[in-house]
Amino acid sequence: LIMRIGICYDTKEDYGYESDNLNYTDFVSLQTVASIREALENIGHDVTYINAKNLINFIEKENEQIDFIFNLVEGIRSRNRVALVPAYLEFRGIKHSGSDTFATAIAQNKHFTKLLLRNLGINTPEGFVYECLTDSVIREAISLGFPLVIKPNSEGGGMGVVMVNNIDEFIYHSRYLIKKFNFELLCEKYIKGKELTVPIIGNGKESQALGVVAIVNKDYSDIDLYDAKKKYENNVIGILDFPCPDHIKEEIKNISLNIHKYIGINDYSRMDYRMDENGNLYFLEANLLPFLNREGSFEVCFKKIGKCYQDVIERIINSSLRRYSRSYSGFTL
Ligand SMILES: Nc1ncnc2c1ncn2[C@@H]1O[C@H](COP(=O)(O)OP(=O)(O)OP(=O)(O)O)[C@@H](O)[C@H]1O
Ligand SMILES: [Mg+2]
Repeated sequence: LIMRIGICYDTKEDYGYESDNLNYTDFVSLQTVASIREALENIGHDVTYINAKNLINFIEKENEQIDFIFNLVEGIRSRNRVALVPAYLEFRGIKHSGSDTFATAIAQNKHFTKLLLRNLGINTPEGFVYECLTDSVIREAISLGFPLVIKPNSEGGGMGVVMVNNIDEFIYHSRYLIKKFNFELLCEKYIKGKELTVPIIGNGKESQALGVVAIVNKDYSDIDLYDAKKKYENNVIGILDFPCPDHIKEEIKNISLNIHKYIGINDYSRMDYRMDENGNLYFLEANLLPFLNREGSFEVCFKKIGKCYQDVIERIINSSLRRYSRSYSGFTL
């Protein structure tokens, strides 16, 4: 089936930020947009770019001529930011890749996601949310015990993530981040250990966890913190062969699939974890628009089974279409 596909995306430049501004790192890179386009064209689709700013205009004018939107829009400065384009597309009855408003809005709030997942018995770092620095917040931080991590509760791309070692650093960075992001912060116990991530493709019962990828420094040592700077510098590698028994890896894949199905995530996602030195696993967050960059975790897993980047994109599109063939809104359990 050959389709006319619009790749819809936004960049930080669209919102007036310089390309090297590390406070806004959640957007897809133009390089990745081009890689996705190339993959879709090689599959045979007719592809057009749609900047998020022009989406409504484009749809109202050319609705008839577009079959499918590959949605990569992150939005800005709102807890709903990633959920807005899916809402519009569903309202207009337009098929698109990725999750709907409901799942997106849940996952965009790291704290609520953790609360929900505790229901499934999933282990998460102890922590709390706050939007200003009161005495009770300071007491709470001290009683959790340092080191702690603070991060904006509804951002991504490692934006604003910092480790703090004492109460002075906690106060200093909290002040800065509250001002910068103008939204609540999440404070968590710092989990020292391995950085793990699990890419998933599919819907409901057909979902598949592709593998457990460890993100490590180029010398295979553990990374302290996968923050925006590290993500930007791209000095890390994703590896599948790291010391961890196979049955544990299978268990981590199963936990990830359960999360994907429980939140009702569409088509693809990536679950982030830390594993401490005693092998305790801590869920950090669910990414519903994970980067689909070349050499990223999806491609790493596909290469391992003799497949390539184009296969990743094809599998995502096919999952999406199968979902719409089963229901109008494209939601399936
Ligand atoms: N409690 C924690 N303990 C240790 N490290 C943490 C903790 N929380 C976050 N980190 C580090 O910060 C990184 C980014 O945190 P997280 O995944 O929660 O935010 P994000 O900005 O949404 O990430 P992404 O880039 O995946 O969108 C993690 O990958 C991890 O390296
Ligand atoms: Mg993450």
